[in-house]
Amino acid sequence: MVDQTIASLNVFEALHSTPARRYLSKKEIPNEIIWELLDAAIRAPSGGNSQGWNWIILKDQEKKNQISEWYREGWHLAYGKRRQAIMDRSDSSDTLGPRNYLSAEYLANHIQDAPIWIIGTLRNTSDSRNPRTGSSIYGAVQNLMLAARAYGIGSTLTTLYAGHEEDVKNLLGIPDDATTMALIPLGYPDKGKWSQPKRQAVEEVTYWDSWGNVNER
Ligand SMILES: Cc1cc2nc3c(=O)[nH]c(=O)nc-3n(C[C@H](O)[C@H](O)[C@H](O)COP(=O)(O)O)c2cc1C
Repeated sequence: MVDQTIASLNVFEALHSTPARRYLSKKEIPNEIIWELLDAAIRAPSGGNSQGWNWIILKDQEKKNQISEWYREGWHLAYGKRRQAIMDRSDSSDTLGPRNYLSAEYLANHIQDAPIWIIGTLRNTSDSRNPRTGSSIYGAVQNLMLAARAYGIGSTLTTLYAGHEEDVKNLLGIPDDATTMALIPLGYPDKGKWSQPKRQAVEEVTYWDSWGNVNER
């Protein structure tokens, strides 16, 4: 293991301090660290231990620029048009809130500058109708982001490029049967904190024995 760990974190500290980090510097990430992150990612479970994942490390600026254009198209369709309503909190369907909106908007405009992207792909999924297909890679994606956090590297799971799935596959030579499941821009944070992600209280989303059956602590 490379000796560049800046934080000695226990598992719970990491779990409680890994929000999406979207303000990233251009500072390079050493390849040894990239290997460490991926070696942690692939320890995750997959159905039948199928390990159908492949990971594409993207540093090529032209390819990043091209995919960034597609990403921004997705951003505009999903969020850009709703900017005013989200910022003044009149969009009742919004779950991001103004602060996260601004950080996501920043990422949409600067994603090409993140020094490393990792794209996670899953084989034999392009015609899948199984609603649980992603469960065989998203554990690995989360492992990767937690391992990055231990090195002081910020990340965000993104999918807004996916309106151009076929274009991305063609650009990167991804086989027909595979699906891109996430694009993770990685970088040392420029701004923001390793703050605890804000979530609805756990008691409000947890049932015991039957749906709807709450149990106070
Ligand atoms: C399936 C999925 C897709 C996501 N796609 C994007 C994306 O395209 N762009 C982005 O900025 N964040 C994306 N996110 C990150 C979420 O916005 C983020 O996890 C959520 O707002 C919680 O952020 P927090 O952990 O910082 O509180 C995605 C997350 C998931 C799980």
